[in-house]
Amino acid sequence: MTPDPSIARAFGERPALMLRAEDVRKTFTLHGQGGIGIEALAGVSLDVERGECVVLVGPSGAGKSTFLRCLYGNYLASGGSIAIRDDAALGQHLEITGAEPHDVLRLRRNVVGYVSQFLRVIPRVSTIDIVAAPLVSRGVDEDEARDRAAALLARLNVPQRLWPLAPATFSGGEQQRVNIARGLIAQHRVLLLDEPTASLDAENRAVVASLIVEARERGAAIVGVFHDEDTRGRVATRVLTLTAPHASASVTEMA
Ligand SMILES: Nc1ncnc2c1ncn2[C@@H]1O[C@H](COP(=O)(O)OP(=O)(O)OP(=O)(O)O)[C@@H](O)[C@H]1O
Ligand SMILES: [Mg+2]
Repeated sequence: MTPDPSIARAFGERPALMLRAEDVRKTFTLHGQGGIGIEALAGVSLDVERGECVVLVGPSGAGKSTFLRCLYGNYLASGGSIAIRDDAALGQHLEITGAEPHDVLRLRRNVVGYVSQFLRVIPRVSTIDIVAAPLVSRGVDEDEARDRAAALLARLNVPQRLWPLAPATFSGGEQQRVNIARGLIAQHRVLLLDEPTASLDAENRAVVASLIVEARERGAAIVGVFHDEDTRGRVATRVLTLTAPHASASVTEMA
């Protein structure tokens, strides 16, 4: 896709700009339920620079997770544009909507990390290898990647006896800490965090907050949702409030 010249100019003129979302809209069509349209995002705009952590707030159902998934390219936005700095792309940015899958995968490997609330367990792969994988996929030597994974798991208080095991049988909080370690290990320049501390006790929440602050101070551009006030207060440089657009009850006739 040809990059939008005004967006390319913004990325050229503002070296710190990492992410620009303009008027992002998302409507889900429930094909199995009479084609009812659920409007989840009604035009969200946001610029994020290096060293910023924008915390999304708003009631349940306001579209916070949907917005993060659109930014990561998991959901295709129904309207608007999402551009992320990508030195390998024309115009220094990749427009996520309409991007080729291989460009999105390159962006995820090199630029954008995402941590969801739950670990997607990969059967039979050990915890240490799950955490080391993002580094290995970038070509880091396996021993070095495992050493860095071990250091991060130790910091997150994941007991060493668990490292050789697959995390399928771990507790919710243990799985969440493995997920955070995997999401933070590669030091992505853009981080999208969806309630990464939801199942953690206060001590581990504080460790995660410190890791997020360190990422921010290293220059990462962060957008996140955090359910507890303490974490929000420690990590946020800015708050963006989303308000739930009312679900449209329009019924699209299905063929
Ligand atoms: N895959 C989907 N298919 C259909 N509707 C969806 C889908 N994902 C989200 N929605 C709807 O979009 C709206 C926004 O959901 P979303 O999960 O983004 O909210 P949220 O702000 O993250 O809420 P919470 O604080 O509870 O996590 C909700 O009405 C939800 O039902
Ligand atoms: Mg959510």
